[in-house]
Amino acid sequence: MNQLISSVAQKMSGTVTVPGDKSISHRALIMGSMAVGETVIRGLLEGEDVLNTAAAMRALGADIYRDDEGCWHVHGVGVGGLHEPAGALDMGNSGTGARLLMGLVSTYPFSSTFIGDASLSSRPMKRVTVPLEQFGAEFHGSENGTLPMTVRGTGSPLPISYDVPVASAQVKSAIMLAALNTPGITTILEKKPTRDHTERMFSFFGVETTTTPQNGGRLITVTGQPELTARNLVVPGDPSSAAFPLVAALITPGSDITINNVGLNPDRTGLFTTLIEMGARIDLLNEREECGEPVADLRVRHSTLKAITVPEGRAPSMIDEYPVLCIAAAFAEGTTVMRGAEELRVKESDRISIMVKGLRACGIEVEEFDDGMAVTGNGDKPKGGALVETHLDHRIAMSFLTLGMQSEKPVTVDDGSVIETSFPIFRSLMNGLGASIQADGEEKQ
Ligand code: S3P
Repeated sequence: MNQLISSVAQKMSGTVTVPGDKSISHRALIMGSMAVGETVIRGLLEGEDVLNTAAAMRALGADIYRDDEGCWHVHGVGVGGLHEPAGALDMGNSGTGARLLMGLVSTYPFSSTFIGDASLSSRPMKRVTVPLEQFGAEFHGSENGTLPMTVRGTGSPLPISYDVPVASAQVKSAIMLAALNTPGITTILEKKPTRDHTERMFSFFGVETTTTPQNGGRLITVTGQPELTARNLVVPGDPSSAAFPLVAALITPGSDITINNVGLNPDRTGLFTTLIEMGARIDLLNEREECGEPVADLRVRHSTLKAITVPEGRAPSMIDEYPVLCIAAAFAEGTTVMRGAEELRVKESDRISIMVKGLRACGIEVEEFDDGMAVTGNGDKPKGGALVETHLDHRIAMSFLTLGMQSEKPVTVDDGSVIETSFPIFRSLMNGLGASIQADGEEKQ
């Protein structure tokens, strides 16, 4: 096991840039592979999840390589040009990679088998196989609808009209990607808006797509079988990764840090809005746009936080940030209530029960609900001192290491290696700002 221990930090200071956005990185590789010509991607996240998507796209026919300057070059095959992979597609820990690519290949006349690690192999896939069957694809896997699973794609797909029953950008995107190689117009209704990176990326590459607000949700159309032009892309920094140094600075007295180039897509900024309502001192500097996505630098200072009830409708825009919000909430005066987030139960782990267990082990008062939790802070430093089980979940690991920075006793996570999936430089970036996160048995720097 690769235990990591986080001990008290004096203050956080300095300027950093977080790695590229995970959601956008997956989509940039996939869309570059579907265009004709060379797409060059700067700022791609080089985490395990995205590298698995790159490997899968190579297996499906794209030519993808990294140059010495860290730019990624993708030579696409064009819509309709994918070929059958020789072996199973190993998506590792990534629900996004698995679900998006199951959608993509479902409208090609060949078979692909998807496999993943223990966490991914326990996550629900019926949410994508049900709509993808309507295009004409067939799925053969375990009875409870989990990986490993073989997709037998269809050579004569029919466009569908589908109301997405869960708030899931992955499901929406799987359908949109299946629609790419389907003649005619596919229509998707999402009741609650979820991150729109696929919509933005489709427009950027020249897919005819529309989005219309409808009863608080969105109606999306995709016109299939377009000819896509290769584009150059710059991936903004991941707001979900920025969340960790940001919360660390908020809870650590004397802190003043700047995080450069953070993506601020409005479908992703629920955590920042929530923290500002709690009293966080976060300043947006140098606001700009990069390849169709809003971006800014964030100055973050230590802040006195007060508890709030997070609006339930905000959940999709901060769904990956509840674990680290629980940590901020432990330092806020009063009870922070987080509900309407039942999707947390089917992430890389059951993030509600795992957070509740870990927070209690660290001496923090927390109440568990079916769809969320309530965390109470009382102004004192949490006790800490626990060994927290991360269950192959990178965000659980990073959240508890952030907690250890201001606990009375160090906090240990049982397996830090899973952080590689989304934020490979997490430890060096945090320690460079003033954290003290060590591997088991390593000397303190
Ligand atoms: C993602 C969508 C979200 C999020 C995940 C990435 C994506 O999941 O939790 O980390 O890139 O589309 P949902 O499918 O639940 O929206």
